[in-house]
Amino acid sequence: MSESVNLLEMNGISKSFAGVAALRDVSFSLKGGEIHALLGANGAGKSTLMKILSGAYAAEGGTIMINKEPVKISTPAEAKKHGIQCVYQEVDTALVPELSVAENIWLDRMSASSGKQWVKWGSVHREAREALQLLDPNIPLGKKVAELSLSDKQLVLIARCLAEKAKFIILDEPTAPLSQEETERLFVIMERLKQSGVGMIFITHRLPEVFRMCDRVTVMRDGRHVMTKPAAETDGKDVVFHMLGKSFDQEFPKLEAKRGELLLEANGLSRGGKVKEVSFKLHRGEIVGVIGLVGAGKTELSRVLFGADPPDEGTLMLGGRKIDLKSPADAVQKGIVLVPEERRKQGILVDESVGVNITLPNLKRLSSLGFMRRKAENQSSNEIVGRLGVKTPTIDQLVGYLSGGNQQKVAIGKWLPTEADVFLLDEPTKGVDVGAKSDIFKIIGQLAQQGKGIVYLSCEFAEIMGIADRIYVMCDGRFVKELSREEATQEQLLFLASAGQEAQA
Ligand SMILES: Nc1ncnc2c1ncn2[C@@H]1O[C@H](COP(=O)(O)OP(=O)(O)OP(=O)(O)O)[C@@H](O)[C@H]1O
Ligand SMILES: [Mg+2]
Repeated sequence: MSESVNLLEMNGISKSFAGVAALRDVSFSLKGGEIHALLGANGAGKSTLMKILSGAYAAEGGTIMINKEPVKISTPAEAKKHGIQCVYQEVDTALVPELSVAENIWLDRMSASSGKQWVKWGSVHREAREALQLLDPNIPLGKKVAELSLSDKQLVLIARCLAEKAKFIILDEPTAPLSQEETERLFVIMERLKQSGVGMIFITHRLPEVFRMCDRVTVMRDGRHVMTKPAAETDGKDVVFHMLGKSFDQEFPKLEAKRGELLLEANGLSRGGKVKEVSFKLHRGEIVGVIGLVGAGKTELSRVLFGADPPDEGTLMLGGRKIDLKSPADAVQKGIVLVPEERRKQGILVDESVGVNITLPNLKRLSSLGFMRRKAENQSSNEIVGRLGVKTPTIDQLVGYLSGGNQQKVAIGKWLPTEADVFLLDEPTKGVDVGAKSDIFKIIGQLAQQGKGIVYLSCEFAEIMGIADRIYVMCDGRFVKELSREEATQEQLLFLASAGQEAQA
């Protein structure tokens, strides 16, 4: 129909970091009006390839062509000039927290026009509002980005692409922090962009999204291109086979663990209107699931349980004794640890090595007479890197250089060798590939077998049902229902998690 469909081609792209190849001779193409899935295990090279396309990294070899014309993309500004926009995986690195939503949406143009002294604030707000209205009219334009939730930040980034009238949009795991409802809204936007001839590269670890949204599927493995097919000519099994290089059963069998004595007990915990009168019990050997939609208050609850925010009301008992958590350090000391949702900001030190991140919580055990037993430290780190399959050249690599999913594995791995009794896991499988997910489930199961108690907070219904012994449904800050593993069905959980919200309104 349209004689002027845009075409983007990457050919023979190579890239290495400190001598380690991250991309080898990768080719990829994208047509206007197409949604093209880019898939692969954690560390396969997806984000790196996209960073080359968006000008964040320089390729060592290969060419990029738009409509058969070679183009040079060596800075983000050049990429944008060619109509290429990127929503990065780590959203908080792409936004300026101290600026408002509207200013962030307008950021690129403000910096591009920095020669001029004045900005037309009326039109800044109008255009920002138009873009954001499509996504979520409830996000206030004047609010500081620092005060937004992770999912709202994501929407702000996407709104920025809309405002920039991009021709090609890279979406690097956009749905990972979004609720089902927000995901649906994003999909509507993607459909609309597609109709208007925009080409999109869609990175995700959720295969059902791929088959719902995408026209073509490309799979990478170990820095190489291994497959490109029309979505209609492949399926989940085929994709996973190409991703992992072997067939893989996507079931995650639950390990049996013996339920022991009462470990943690919360009574009427409330905090800042986000957590309301939450009571629950956790036994040794037990995995308690807390299911709730994004925004239900799970993260806020995990922060209270970890001593990051004191409760306004309510009590916490650990091993039969009342405890008052003064800080996260205090919680760790008492044996309660947290793998937070926003791993990059709270869960790991990106400027430190994998080894340091893993041994830090564990220093007391590893140091003797005040100095660190380096050998023990390295041995412990290497063991955990192996157990979780963290893809890193050595344990000396800075965590900031690992792929998103591998950073998540480090955030979990660092607590494994500690003497903690209670593990709070807030969306632990976000952004990890199917293979790694199964490793993480196995490790959580083993922790339960060792008599630890696990609170697993998530909005992934199927995962909670697979791993939890008991499930609490959280809605608008409250625990609205407790169900046993046997009782729970996906429809019921979804109903309770969302219906409670309507009842409140
Ligand atoms: N700046 C960097 N310095 C060193 N190594 C890097 C850097 N960026 C990426 N890498 C390495 O390149 C490889 C590919 O990483 P990339 O982030 O592209 O993976 P990915 O496919 O996006 O994975 P994920 O699904 O976990 O996000 C990884 O081994 C990663 O550790
Ligand atoms: Mg990535």
